[in-house]
Amino acid sequence: MSRRLLVTSALPYANGQIHIGHLVEYIQTDIWVRFMRMQGHETYYVGADDTHGTPVMLRAEKEGLTPKQLIERVWHEHKRDFDNFGISFDNYYTTDSPETRQLSEKIYLALQAQGLIEARDIEQAFDPVKEMFLPDRFIKGECPKCGAKDQYGDSCEVCGSTYAPTDLKNPYSVVSGATPVRKTSTHYFFKLSDPRCESFLREWVAGLAQPEATNKMREWLGEAGDAKLADWDISRDAPYFGFEIPGAPGKYFYVWLDAPIGYYGSFKNLCDKKGLNFDEWVAPDSSTEQYHFIGKDILYFHTLFWPATLEFSGHRTPTNVFAHGFLTVDGLKMSKSRGTFITAQSYIDTGLNPEWLRYYFAAKLNGTMEDIDLNLDDFVARVNSDLVGKFVNIASRAAGFLLKRFNGKVDDAAMQHSLLRVLREAAPAVAQHYEARDYGKALRQVMELADTVNAYVDNVKPWDLAKDPAQAGALHEACSVCLEAFRLLTIYLKPVLPRTAAAIEQFLNIASLAWHDVDTALSSATPVAPYKHLMTRVEGKQIEKLLEANRDSLQATPAAAAAPANTAPAKAAAEAEGDTIGIDDFAKIDLRIAKIVDCRTVEGSDKLLQLTLDVGEAKPRNVFSGIKSAYRPEDLVGKLTVMVANLAPRKMKFGLSEGMVLAASAANEKAEPGIYILEPHSGAKPGMRVK
Ligand code: MSP
Ligand code: ZN
Repeated sequence: MSRRLLVTSALPYANGQIHIGHLVEYIQTDIWVRFMRMQGHETYYVGADDTHGTPVMLRAEKEGLTPKQLIERVWHEHKRDFDNFGISFDNYYTTDSPETRQLSEKIYLALQAQGLIEARDIEQAFDPVKEMFLPDRFIKGECPKCGAKDQYGDSCEVCGSTYAPTDLKNPYSVVSGATPVRKTSTHYFFKLSDPRCESFLREWVAGLAQPEATNKMREWLGEAGDAKLADWDISRDAPYFGFEIPGAPGKYFYVWLDAPIGYYGSFKNLCDKKGLNFDEWVAPDSSTEQYHFIGKDILYFHTLFWPATLEFSGHRTPTNVFAHGFLTVDGLKMSKSRGTFITAQSYIDTGLNPEWLRYYFAAKLNGTMEDIDLNLDDFVARVNSDLVGKFVNIASRAAGFLLKRFNGKVDDAAMQHSLLRVLREAAPAVAQHYEARDYGKALRQVMELADTVNAYVDNVKPWDLAKDPAQAGALHEACSVCLEAFRLLTIYLKPVLPRTAAAIEQFLNIASLAWHDVDTALSSATPVAPYKHLMTRVEGKQIEKLLEANRDSLQATPAAAAAPANTAPAKAAAEAEGDTIGIDDFAKIDLRIAKIVDCRTVEGSDKLLQLTLDVGEAKPRNVFSGIKSAYRPEDLVGKLTVMVANLAPRKMKFGLSEGMVLAASAANEKAEPGIYILEPHSGAKPGMRVK
């Protein structure tokens, strides 16, 4: 049965370049979309630049451009990058469009008519020099806990504690350097706390595909009756680059209100061009499907705000939201100093083949929210071994003989060979893995089939058969089986390797392969064309060149570095890695095994626990640690952990803290809460040095 699908990827911010982290998402989506199209489903894949908000406005100003000039330029850069990587958008648009404006206004007015919009006065930080309200990200100051300078208003990158912007000491505006003042203004809120929203979301969450996403949602929603959802502030004051709110002069839609509506704006624009019925696609009773691919950092916006916005403005809601994890390179955050903050353009400039990266990411993706790692050695090895050594090799082993000896015509009787039956029978399982976004599994299976084909070639030895004229029939059969097997494998790899597949279709002289072509075969009626080399090997040198091109030489324009205030503050920190340190720097830190001999809550603090630590010294140390949200005191007593023993003692409201306990947490603690203190393997003794 043919289905009708609307598919999106998150809209990249219009103030930075596309990097390989972004590409995880666009490649993941594109593979799925290409697979769905091959199945014969009517599929539309739309995207757009996310153009509004304070960071775009300020960045334009810094470059001496108007916001419209900036977003126009960036749109062309993004479009170029997506085209280079074969991302097959049916429409790539902008949120700064008449369609998105009209839809935003219409949706807002519908929410208002539902009684879900409320005006409220709030007090906020204001830059008196620049005369603008300051999003949290644009306020810095000294960390209230450790005193580190130049920390953002939400969390300290030095000691890791989180706090409110108002807690910062000596705060200053990143825009002008002025000391922010408090100022009141009227804001518009989407009343998510309304019981209608809560009960709708509780029901909607049941349909989410990923258990991890469902769990997050349940956490955010709390138990029935908890009323955990806060109202959502959807307005910003002038000066702001965005859409003015109808009936509220000087007030603008917050960028995250109109950004997802930009999915619809782009689709509406496509519908008008193609004569499709937009209203039918977005109506509450629509029989079409709607999917959003996103990174795990923006789950909140897509599983709470967006479905509620749609539901209460008279639209259909998403069929599903698919979240992926974050990209690391060689196990670490992308870093400018290591050259692993790799832009899409630098990859192309270095002469690397986009199909390689598509294949590598696909092999790593499994449909969950786990982070995925680009291991550069593994990248070289995997591409060379799988794509060149296993896949392309099959064609190059057979094509020469077939062309020279049989005029490029296959032996039709060979199309029934039992090896080919095995390959054809794999189609439903491979398809199922693609549909479930478990591309890793799909590709493992395809490569196993390629192994089988290569084993067959090794066994029949066409090069030996070719020496004996009496074996012409056997040689013809072997080459024909090989090329038909290659055609079948090409079908399975086509969603991942669109350009290679197109070159193969030319070589085999066949029309664009669809999934049902598994049930057809090559025919002697259409001889294959002369064989041209289909893919080269990756050279280690190319990777060195790529890292060199990205090392410190980037402009300071990672999208995340200027992300709007409450998207994912820790994202910028996560991506803007600092310089490496030498072993001498590391040796300065005195890490010791500590035994927690006592642990108590701290009167008047909801974050801290007070630990008494034995580090092998005459006197135990007293340490305050912000781990109360994660541990009960009684569960820690008697345990071993690791502490920084030579941190200068710090006087706190509750007493003197004589060190720090090490604990792990996610870069974005809001999206992924949880604190985990370290514990050594058994045998470690209090006072031992960790080095
Ligand atoms: N503009 C918002 C999305 C609005 S959608 C209505 C945004 N933009 S972004 O440019 O920061 O990110 C775009 C997408 O790329 C997001 O889904 C994000 O999760 C993803 N990624 C950005 N950096 C990434 C990695 N390092 N790794 C994997 N995905 C990453 O968020
Ligand atoms: Zn701090």
